[in-house]
Formats: sequence, C-alpha cells, structure tokens
Amino acid sequence: MAPGIVDYRPSLNEQFAAREAEDKLAPLYQPQKKAAVDNVVHSPPGAQADIDWIPSFEKYQQRVTRRLKEATLEKQVPEGFPASVNYQMCWEGVNMTPSEYVYILSDVEIDEIEHALQHFKGLGLTKDEISQTTFPLPGLRARLLQTAQEVHQGRGFAVLRGLDPSKYSLADNVILYAGIASYIGNKRGLQDRSGNVLVHIKDVGAAVAPDDQRQSPYANNAQPFHNDLGDIIAMYVMDRPLSGGGSKIASTARVYNEIAATRPDLIHVLAKGDWAFDNRHEDDFSYHKRPILFYDEKGNNVFFCFSRRQLTGSTVSPRPPALPKLSESQAEALDAVHFTAAKYALTINLEKGDLQFVNNLGVFHSREAFTDGEENKRRHIIRMWLRNKELAWPTPEGLTEVWREIYGRDRNSVWYLNPVHTKAHVINRKISCYG
Ligand SMILES: [Fe+2]
Repeated sequence: MAPGIVDYRPSLNEQFAAREAEDKLAPLYQPQKKAAVDNVVHSPPGAQADIDWIPSFEKYQQRVTRRLKEATLEKQVPEGFPASVNYQMCWEGVNMTPSEYVYILSDVEIDEIEHALQHFKGLGLTKDEISQTTFPLPGLRARLLQTAQEVHQGRGFAVLRGLDPSKYSLADNVILYAGIASYIGNKRGLQDRSGNVLVHIKDVGAAVAPDDQRQSPYANNAQPFHNDLGDIIAMYVMDRPLSGGGSKIASTARVYNEIAATRPDLIHVLAKGDWAFDNRHEDDFSYHKRPILFYDEKGNNVFFCFSRRQLTGSTVSPRPPALPKLSESQAEALDAVHFTAAKYALTINLEKGDLQFVNNLGVFHSREAFTDGEENKRRHIIRMWLRNKELAWPTPEGLTEVWREIYGRDRNSVWYLNPVHTKAHVINRKISCYG
C-alpha cells in the first residue's frame, strides 16, 4: 500500500453486520420510479449523498446552489497544485477535426500488416509472444511510434483506420490487433482476475441476463465520463451497431483548468485521499481510500483515475453499504467533473476496423447508448489495456497495487477469442473486469 493511502479491513463481526445491512438494502437497488426533481432533499449527515451513476444536471445544479450558500469554500487550489496546466493534451472537442487524429492506413501498410500476420503465424509462438520483434512492420513502424508519442505527450489519443475485420478470422484479427498495438504499448495488461488480456465489449442481450443485471461492457446503455484502469486503453472495432454507440472523450487537463478556475474548493475534494473504493476481488467488505485526482509535478501533468460507478453505485453494481458514504462535496465534485467533461468532449464515430488508442489518465471516456441490429450490425469492440514502459506516466499514488496486478507477470494470461459471456460473468463486476 502506497504511503498516505488508507487500507481498511473490517473485523469478522463488522463483516457480518455489513452483510446483514447489504441484504436489507438489496431491494433498494432494484429499478425504482425516479423521485421528481423537486422532491430531492438534502442528504442527512452520515447518509450517502443523493447521487446516481447516471448524472442528473438538475440535482447537480441544486447541490451547487445549496453548497455555495451553506459551505465555506477554499478560494485557492491545494498547495502544490497548479492554478492551470497548459500542454497539448489540454484540448476542447469543438476545436478538433478528424484529419488531426485519424490516420488512414495505406494499401501498402495494410499489405505489410497482413505479411506480419503470416510471419507471426509461421513462427509457431503463443499470443503472449506477439511483439514488435515477432510482428515486424518496417514501413509502418515510424508512424506507430509517433502515434505512441501522441498518446503520451500529444493530444492523448489517436485512431488508425483502414482495416477490414471481415477479411480475417477472429484469431487473425486478434493477432494483427495485438501486433499493431505492441508498437503503442509494449506491455499488455490483464483485465480481470482470470487473467483476460482481451475484453469483448458487446451487448449480450436479455437472453443471457436481464437488462438491469448486465454490467456495462455487456449492455447497450450510456456510460458517464470515467477512466478505466491501466495506462492506455486500446479498442478494435470488430463491428458497429445499427445506431448510436458514439465514443466520447474529454481532456482531463481541460476539465482540471475549468474547475480550478471556477471552483478551486472542488480540486481540494478531488485530490483528497478519502475516496473509498472496495477491494476488487475480496468479499470481506474491505476497502481502501485514495484521491481521484493526482498531479505529477515533475511532468506537470494532472491525472484523474476513477470509475463513477464504483463511487456512486448503480442498479447493476450496488455500492457496498459498508463503504464510507459519499459526502455532499464529493457528490458535487463528481458531477462537476462529468458535466465539465461533457461540455468540452469530442464525439468520435468509430468505424468498423478502427483502432483507437487513448491515454487513460489524461483523457476521460464515455459512451452513448446504442441499438444493435441483425448479425453484422451488432456493436463488438475488443479492448486491451496497454503500457508503454518507456513513455508511461508515473503511476499515481494509490494505484501501484492494481497496476502491479494488471501489468505484473505473476499470473497466467488468457486470450479468449470468442467472448465468454455466461450470465455469471456478465452480471458480476468483480469477475467481469477490474474496473
Ligand atoms: Fe471504460
């Protein structure tokens, strides 16, 4: 556990009490009729602030009005934090054009990728051995290394376009995806406790589990702005939905600057190490506390790393009652991050075959809801979590343990080519993904 990070493990008696409390609260997590906005009340002391996973602008505005009246708020950002940052990753979506961030692969480059695919298959190696050496791309290499720089030091994201996944088998798609991605991040993360290198993001439908039970990667609902875990999120679009499903991203630096300028008190809240996260694979109600905003003075980078769903809870992923409750200031700060990100976001309409690389710490992401159609019109994205050992930003304090779990090599990796989408898998956050 990193210095300054609180780790809390309840006694057996406390675990028993927490389990009883969770059982009693379980019915509350079933879908309910929403209260009318004018019925929203101030949360009593000690209660979880009235906030949902899906942000409500009305509730946010009410809370802002209330807190500005009631609270004494800091007028400066915390000591050691900058009043603003200014680097290329600080952008606004309205100013970006696809020609800046989409690179179209040429026919010659696609030929080279297909040649590398055959070369790798001829070596008789396992997929864990896919690397720049075993998947040689002498012509495209310089462009891909430039893309890696762009993800770490530039705007923080990039899209490579031009592949047609329907030309290849699923196994070949995975090899060429991992081969190209090895130039952006040479270490592949394990995304859950089973050691999955690949997560197939796909709405598996109510036949596998009801709509109100499937975790987001396996449903078609919208997601608010958040970060995953890991350094780089890679996405390979195997198929697109009939409609919707836009990928939205936003600069964490731009969000920081706006909040620091208008509500510096919320920077204190975001940077304070008292956000409680349950320990990912343990069922003993243990949790740890850490900040969700970080500043690397050396690199002059602001970092965010949080999943809103873990903090607010949701119908599908109820917040364990044993966790310390979200305060009013924390609820306001979470909504400020979401709505500021939405204000400056960029929507990318990913096409079939697109490879998207995003700096997970420097860029928030969210997703629009979508509707699938018949076969070949069903959204299917294969996600990897990558790390570039040379270019990676310093791992934020409080995340070193989970980074070790993701990128350490003391566990076996698993490469599922066909999605493992059993009911048990898609309804359980702790086994379906570290996030
Ligand atoms: Fe995500």
